[in-house]
This record gives sequence, structure tokens and C-alpha cells, in this order.
Amino acid sequence: MNPEKSTVRVLITGVTGQDGAYLAKALLDDGYKVFGTVRRGGSPKTDRLKSLGILERVILVPLEITEFPNVIQVLSDIRPDYIYNFSAQSFVMDSFTHPITTTQVNYIGVLNLLESLKILNLDSRFLQPSSSEMYGSQEKSYVSEETRFNPFSPYAVAKHSAHCAVQIYRTKYQVKAASAILFNHESELRGREFVTRKITMALAKIKLNLQNKLFIGNLDAKRDWGHAKDFVEAQWLMLQQEKPEDFVIATGKQYSVRDFINETAKNLDMKIEWRGNGIDEAGSFNGKDIVIVDKRYFRPAEVETLLGDATKAKEKLNWSPKISFEELVKEMVEKDFKSVNKLNN
Ligand code: GDD
Repeated sequence: MNPEKSTVRVLITGVTGQDGAYLAKALLDDGYKVFGTVRRGGSPKTDRLKSLGILERVILVPLEITEFPNVIQVLSDIRPDYIYNFSAQSFVMDSFTHPITTTQVNYIGVLNLLESLKILNLDSRFLQPSSSEMYGSQEKSYVSEETRFNPFSPYAVAKHSAHCAVQIYRTKYQVKAASAILFNHESELRGREFVTRKITMALAKIKLNLQNKLFIGNLDAKRDWGHAKDFVEAQWLMLQQEKPEDFVIATGKQYSVRDFINETAKNLDMKIEWRGNGIDEAGSFNGKDIVIVDKRYFRPAEVETLLGDATKAKEKLNWSPKISFEELVKEMVEKDFKSVNKLNN
């Protein structure tokens, strides 16, 4: 272990989520001291930390991010060198039914952290994960740091407010804060409410005759899907910069939800036959309809397409994604098939 690194204190809020767990693992392996916050009350969901073998190595700290006195106390106690704010209500669909909670966590929570840094006059470097969802619908296909945002869900509005707050605290109060404008990023640790994991899990179960159908929303939605490990690396590199700045983190390649289903099926030796259109579309395998389009999974406001231009990250951080779309899907399918098969036996 590098003795210097062991004195560097990194605070990861939301350490039990996908990105929190991957970042904690990478930093612990590198010798850093990692504090991770978990929501107060109840027992924290530590399965991701356990699966990466780091549960005993992260110093867990209870934190309610919407509670300012709690936030300022935790920052004052830990005095972190780096803060990664991964605590969020990250499911866009849920923000339509829970707009207030989404705003409290995704915006007020960020203000609480920024205000604490300002009041305590801490020198910590702060990373805020902003979201490509902030772009909403755009005329251009590729979007970059220069593109105007057009948020169109309570989730995107809250993320956009937090994004603006980071810029204000950085320019007006000299807080060393940066926002990563993250496009979708997935992995075998992805939550099951997100479309990629929902697909890999469902098709693995269908293949093993443990489920009959996958009910899905907009098959034509297109996303720029990367691997969470690559995206976590980019966020680490961002705070190693002399001057904090915002960066788009994206792969620059785009696939539809239907493409994701086809790629998943390919990995399971299944060939889906598609017929119909829009809400009437269905996918069958061996003569049985297994993919059914279902209105329940359409959003009140749908962002049809997202595609990022990460040229700035490539040039300034020397970052580009290492894991391809095909490798990402393969990893997710293999993991889900194995775990479902194991449970079944
Ligand atoms: N979840 C889900 N479930 N999405 C579906 C479904 C379904 O059954 N059917 C179609 N979709 C479409 C959604 O409408 C959306 O267009 C796309 O699949 C991706 O949905 P999600 O996986 O839920 O992710 P997201 O794009 O809404 O948000 C993710 O990426 C953002 C960055 O762009 C999340 O990780 C956000 O937290 C993140 O900010």
C-alpha cells in the first residue's frame, strides 16, 4: 500500500449503489481511505459492497443528505480530501410519481453539501454526477458541454438545478466542485428497475423457463450505454485536474432498447422475431410472444434519444471507454444467467 495514499480521505455518498461500490473498490485497492455514507435508519443494502469483497473495508457513516445539520456535521468530522456525491434518486420514471422527494435528494441534498463546504471553508474536491437526461429533446444528434439543456422530467429539473448550483459555488465561492454529465452506464451491479438489467434478468429467466414474458416500454428509445467501471474512472480523473471543470462522459455510440434486447438474446442463443409497430409491437421466440410492449412503462415525457460527444474528456483527461457495448451486455447476461440458474438448482 502506498503510505501517502492511506492518508487521503475519500467520502463517497451513496456508496452502496453501482457507481459508489465500483469507485470504493478501485480506491481501496489503490490504498486510499474510503468513507461511505448510507441512509440513516434501517439496515443498509450492502449486497454490492459484499459482492466486490469490500464491505469490511469501507468506513460506513450514516447520513441523511436532505438534513443540513447532519451533512455539515459529517463533513466537519471527516474533513474529506475528495467527495463523490453518488447519493441520488436515480430512477427517472420514479421522479414523475415522487417529484418532491426527487428534488429534495437530487437538488437540496447537493446544496447541503455545497453550503457545508463553503461554511466550513473546506478544501475538498467535490464531484457531482449530473445527468445526460438534462438535455431532454434536442435538434442535434450529438450533445456536448456546449449544448443548451432542456430538462423535461422532475428528475432532470432537479439534476439541472444541482448542476447550476455547482457552477455557482465553483465560480462565486471558490468551492472546488465539478460536474460529470454522465450518460447511461450499466454493469452486472445495475439496479433491476433500469431497462438494461430488467432485460438481461428477464431473458435469462425466460431461457430457463422461469418466466414467460418481458413487459417493456418504448422499444425505440435510444441511449448511449457505457460500462459503470469506465465511467467511475472518468470521474476519478476529473478530480485529479488542477482546475475543476465539467465534462461529458459518454461512449459516443447509440443503441435502441430493441437493440439491447436483440444483443441479450444473441448471448443466450435466442433469436427474437419482431412484428407490429409502436404499442402493438411484440417479439417472439420459438413461436411464443415473449416481449410485450406495455403502456405502463412509458413515461409522461419520454427522452427519445441521447448521444454524447466526450471529445473534451478524451483530450483533457485522456479518457475513453475501454468496455464495448457487446462486452457490457455479455457480462450482464452471463452474470444473470448464472445467478438465476444457481437459484433454480
Ligand atoms: N426502466 C425502464 N423500464 N425503461 C424502459 C422500459 C422499461 O420497461 N422500456 C423502455 N424503457 C426506456 C426508457 O423509457 C428510457 O428511454 C430508456 O429505456 C432507459 O431507461 P432507464 O434504464 O430507466 O434509464 P434512464 O435513461 O431513464 O436514466 C438512466 O440514465 C440517466 C443518464 O442518462 C439513469 O441511470 C439516470 O439516473 C441517469 O441520470
